[in-house]
Amino acid sequence: MMEEVSARWGSGPARMAIPQPMDAVEIGEMPRIETGVSELDRLMGGGIMRGSITLVAGDPGIGKSTLMTELGRHLDPLTLLYVTGEESARQVKLRAQRLNAASGNVLLLAETNIEAILRAVDETAPDVLVIDSIQTMYHPDVQSAPGSVSQIRESAAVVMRLTKTLNAATFLVGHVTRSGSIAGPRVLEHLVDTVLYFEGDRHHGYRVLRAVKNRFGSTNEIGVFEMTGTGLREVSNPSEIFLSERRAGASGSCVVCSVEGTRPVLVEVQALASHASYGTPQRTATGFDPKRLQLLLAVLEKRQGLGLSGNDVFLNVVGGVRLDEPAADLGVAVAVTSSLHDVAVDGAAVVIGEVGLGGEVRGVSKLELRLRESAKMGFAQAIVPKTSLQGLIPVSGIETIGAETVSQVLDLLV
Ligand code: TYD
Ligand code: MG
Repeated sequence: MMEEVSARWGSGPARMAIPQPMDAVEIGEMPRIETGVSELDRLMGGGIMRGSITLVAGDPGIGKSTLMTELGRHLDPLTLLYVTGEESARQVKLRAQRLNAASGNVLLLAETNIEAILRAVDETAPDVLVIDSIQTMYHPDVQSAPGSVSQIRESAAVVMRLTKTLNAATFLVGHVTRSGSIAGPRVLEHLVDTVLYFEGDRHHGYRVLRAVKNRFGSTNEIGVFEMTGTGLREVSNPSEIFLSERRAGASGSCVVCSVEGTRPVLVEVQALASHASYGTPQRTATGFDPKRLQLLLAVLEKRQGLGLSGNDVFLNVVGGVRLDEPAADLGVAVAVTSSLHDVAVDGAAVVIGEVGLGGEVRGVSKLELRLRESAKMGFAQAIVPKTSLQGLIPVSGIETIGAETVSQVLDLLV
């Protein structure tokens, strides 16, 4: 039996693995590399960990290669090996020049054969390794075409072993289509240490890099960038940007505060409820879960008696951000009602709260953090769940109004 097992795994005689007390496990120095791209470093939990693998996923054209190219800028004297399977070395260099990130400590390799890459990596022993993209790589021993699940898995497994032995920090770039793409790089999510998703609308300047998995830091943390003619500019105060185009006195607009990881972000939610000309009314949401919108509309219809069934409803979260947090519910309900009644919401108020099926306002976490950010951004008033007010440390400069039901909030604001 033992023989059979070792034959199957090809591992030879088993080494004695001895369990050791936890306090005897050595951690050594924290081997993090600071890339100098501070939004990325913060997102990763204070620099990238040596020996770790990060998957950078996102739609084609969103800016993955741009971000990876920028890594080279501040790394000196550490070395970065940039393996490109999509572009020629010349193309990568041209981009790096444009980004002012072309330097001698960056090595370029245009190759897709993973064994050839293995040799090159062994020879150069880089501190940071970028594989752009994992979909273009192939292992000669695997029959299927590059981009197939077995190729992606096998190539990634090779890169992973390499990363651990070299103690490098590795980035795998993977294209994901908006629909979520069935197989592709998503099969890697459970293998890698960190998964970063690049979000945002390709036609707008802002990009949000989100950590959806992070073995070395907190998840749901976001980094915000602006795509400019000379690369990605880091945005250190996202609330300011997301609110910059807000028009005072417009109906259908409401400001919400969402906590992304550890960072509170204020965003404008816009709704447009307009008379449906034919058939089933449309419900469209950008940056917000369409099912959640349906649910909120049903609550407004049933509990508030709003006649939404004859209206198309469009919802847009400004700036290309995605709001996944339930704390945005109340603001969405307010924006929709404001548009339907064509009454503008007081521009100095921020709205925070989850909405329950009974039309009640449910509590949210980290209220103090949200209030501090709101006060900082000049909001004078916050509508918050009454239940979250208990034990809250008062935040100066902002008046908090506790609400129990959606109907109270609507009476107050629209
Ligand atoms: P890219 O990083 O190549 O996207 P990905 O690797 O995710 O497919 O960049 C995508 C877009 O960004 C491309 O349409 C051009 C634009 N861009 C800029 O606007 N400014 C720049 O400095 C660079 C390098 C790219
Ligand atoms: Mg690319």
